[in-house]
Amino acid sequence: MRIGVLTSGGDCPGLNAVIRSVVHRAVVDHGDEVIGFHDGWKGLLEADYRKLDLDAVAGILARGGTILGSSRVQPAHLVDGVERAKGHVAELGLDAIIPIGGEGTLKAANLLAQAGLPIVGVPKTIDNDIASTDVTFGFDTAVGVATEALDRLKTTAESHQRVLIVEVMGRHTGWIALHSGMAAGAHAIVVPERPFDIGELTRRVGARFEAGKRFAIVVAAEGAKPREGSMEFDEGGKDMYGHERFAGVARQLSVELEERLGKEARPVILGHVQRGGTPTAYDRVLATRFGWHAVEAAHRGEFGMMTALRGTDITLVPLAQAVETLKTVPQERYEEAETVL
Ligand code: F6P
Repeated sequence: MRIGVLTSGGDCPGLNAVIRSVVHRAVVDHGDEVIGFHDGWKGLLEADYRKLDLDAVAGILARGGTILGSSRVQPAHLVDGVERAKGHVAELGLDAIIPIGGEGTLKAANLLAQAGLPIVGVPKTIDNDIASTDVTFGFDTAVGVATEALDRLKTTAESHQRVLIVEVMGRHTGWIALHSGMAAGAHAIVVPERPFDIGELTRRVGARFEAGKRFAIVVAAEGAKPREGSMEFDEGGKDMYGHERFAGVARQLSVELEERLGKEARPVILGHVQRGGTPTAYDRVLATRFGWHAVEAAHRGEFGMMTALRGTDITLVPLAQAVETLKTVPQERYEEAETVL
């Protein structure tokens, strides 16, 4: 069998572990040939690739980023994108393609699968918002990074009697905010799923100071916004791919809370540090299992599917189903977090 693998969209700790796992399972166990496309779908669209053998993936298990490179380019960005992809798959004699990516990448994978290409998708995102899988790799690492940062920020916030508003990633969902906020014992968490009321948030933070505490930490998912009419708010715009370019919830909240509380407030934006560096053991294991199962699915001819974690098992779900909705933070999970704030 000849398999093509690619990593597309925002990078994520664990991508290299999937690539390594695909190569090990395919080359060593099945005697397959594996090629890796450079910079995501762009590599497939431009037939830009390299052969992946055991040497090519040696020592990459614990490495962050992706040895193949990534981009946000998608077949749908070109008028003849789907035809081009089909042409290159035929020319290269590929029997299977394993794209590893998040929401946008999986939508593109579904589009190509519908067009008849042999695709098995692997979900990745630090945001953990792919609905058909219990967890995506990268999330555990990102939560760990954010939690460590929050722990550190507490000591400096306390020294200066400040409110720190810490912005974590999460365009559409607040999973990183929820988990890191709970793990670090933040005093308020705001997420995109539940527009916040600035009056209520001010009261919550203010109550801490009234109770004699010297600082407060608010965790804000980057996509969080206030309830309609609750405060003036700049939502930002879109980048060249139509992705949100946020104006900065932490910055705006710090100005508002400082004015309302009369306490020094500072924004801290964790940004891409949450996506960089070495994956946790949990993420390496999940990524390795996804890679292994993607190769097995290809050998069974189960295309148009995506690997998924259900409980402790790896299963396959149709790509079409996987891209229907995002996994948002349920109200109950938010309430659990609030009781311990
Ligand atoms: O989709 C993952 C993600 O980390 C989002 O949380 C974030 O908004 C986005 O990527 C940032 O992407 P970029 O690297 O293109 O700025």
